[in-house]
Amino acid sequence: MPTIAIISQKGGSGKTTIALHLAASATQAKKPACVIDTDPQATAAAWGDWRGDFFPLVVTSPPARLAKTIERAHKQDDVQVVVIDTPPHAEAAMREAIKAADLVLIPSRPRAFDLHALEAVAEMVEFAGKPAFVVLNAVPSGATRQVAEATETAKSLGLKTCPVTFGERADFHRSSAKGEVASEIDAEGKAAAEAAALWKWAARQLK
Ligand SMILES: Nc1ncnc2c1ncn2[C@@H]1O[C@H](COP(=O)(O)OP(=O)(O)OP(=O)(O)O)[C@@H](O)[C@H]1O
Ligand SMILES: [Mg+2]
Repeated sequence: MPTIAIISQKGGSGKTTIALHLAASATQAKKPACVIDTDPQATAAAWGDWRGDFFPLVVTSPPARLAKTIERAHKQDDVQVVVIDTPPHAEAAMREAIKAADLVLIPSRPRAFDLHALEAVAEMVEFAGKPAFVVLNAVPSGATRQVAEATETAKSLGLKTCPVTFGERADFHRSSAKGEVASEIDAEGKAAAEAAALWKWAARQLK
């Protein structure tokens, strides 16, 4: 089953926002998804509680139990994609998620301190030999130069950058706070379009 790990060393980079939106976009594209929350903060799991009994499913798993949890997700009727959300500053959890993944996404805000934190992750994914891409998140509008510079920094660390970026948009945090995703509060909005584009791109990588 296609499995996508969302990892980053830095707290608040957008891991959970991207995990939930990616899983919801996959589900909307007829690939029902399950998010496995390996973060003890359990933010994705709380979102799942607010959402109730609707896809994407969210289950929790200690990192050491990840392989078993993925196996169980396989057996769930309908689940066709797994997205793993991980805690920040947690090397062991990141390693487990990378090991389980077919594709690794690394959310980062396009700012110097955030990009600096990519170094440790870059070494980890290179060692594992998994396809990995930085996903620039919360990009201020019109920040073309910032995106170009961030892409260069990622490249200097041996990391590719996903062509889809998420802008700094109220729809991302307003929807998450209600157990929803951006497309469910504004189907025509830019946040909804970015989330759909991210899944479309990821699906191509997984082929
Ligand atoms: N593109 C965005 N636009 C606006 N707000 C965003 C965006 N991405 C994330 N946020 C907000 O930033 C905060 C941190 O995001 P999120 O929880 O997804 O990060 P995280 O990397 O999972 O954090 P942690 O490391 O604590 O798990 C949240 O309040 C979220 O709603
Ligand atoms: Mg999180």
